[in-house]
Amino acid sequence: MRVWAIANQKGGVGKTTTTLALGRTLALRGQRVLLVDLDPHGSLTRAFGVPAEPPPSGVLELFSTPPRPLSELAHPSPLEGLDFVCAQTALATLERRSASQPGLGLALSQALSRHAAGHDYVLLDCPPTLGLLMVNALAAADHLVVPTQTEPLALHGLAGMRRTGEMIARSRGRPLPAAVLPTMFDRRTRVGRETLRQMQKEYGPLAWSEAIPIDTQLRNADILAQQPATSAQPGRALDAYARALDWILAGQARRLERAA
Ligand SMILES: Nc1ncnc2c1ncn2[C@@H]1O[C@H](COP(=O)(O)OP(=O)(O)O)[C@@H](O)[C@H]1O
Ligand SMILES: [Mg+2]
Repeated sequence: MRVWAIANQKGGVGKTTTTLALGRTLALRGQRVLLVDLDPHGSLTRAFGVPAEPPPSGVLELFSTPPRPLSELAHPSPLEGLDFVCAQTALATLERRSASQPGLGLALSQALSRHAAGHDYVLLDCPPTLGLLMVNALAAADHLVVPTQTEPLALHGLAGMRRTGEMIARSRGRPLPAAVLPTMFDRRTRVGRETLRQMQKEYGPLAWSEAIPIDTQLRNADILAQQPATSAQPGRALDAYARALDWILAGQARRLERAA
């Protein structure tokens, strides 16, 4: 089982869209995928049509005593092979508790280590704040995927995220390789093109050499949670996400080879 955290300490950069797009693409390729919504805002949960009220069971129950097993919290989606765990609004209060409180920072790692139940990939959709939930995700992840908007201010957020990833890797004594995914790229604007060039220069092989384009089809994430219509064209952004996935998988395979 591979665990990927989709994180950036900034909102609106495409984390949830990326989680859905990568998860969907993996599932359509025959992998069994579990998406976990760690953001109290619950955008991923809403994309699957689950309302905020009444609160669904979900991530909160991983922190209860005793915790509920992940397999009991996973809901099947309309897409074969794709399951999801809901976020609840009440996660916001959990977020204010300290990650240093015994056990709390590792609740997700522990839930995943007990979760043998048939998922090849677990994708963690993180909140935009460095709190208890993001710490849980980074502690549990084998790999960090950082969607980053191709606009100048995003480069600051990216540097912060990189430091956080390195800090977690040191404290747990296990590397946390990162992949920077440029998102919402508008090649018609100069500032977009320049930011992309800058990102690729600063991050070198850690950054994807392409970018996910702005695509009106992705303005509404719900479409990614649905079964694809047989006649539907994948669309530019989804095509790009499939190539981004290939790039992430190739990096993962290289690291496994080196480790063997
Ligand atoms: N490639 C894209 N093209 C157009 N709109 C996008 C694209 N990626 C994301 N969006 C839209 O941008 C908004 C923010 O994306 P989202 O994935 O929710 O970001 P985050 O999870 O980081 O807050 C959403 O409304 C989403 O539908
Ligand atoms: Mg989100």
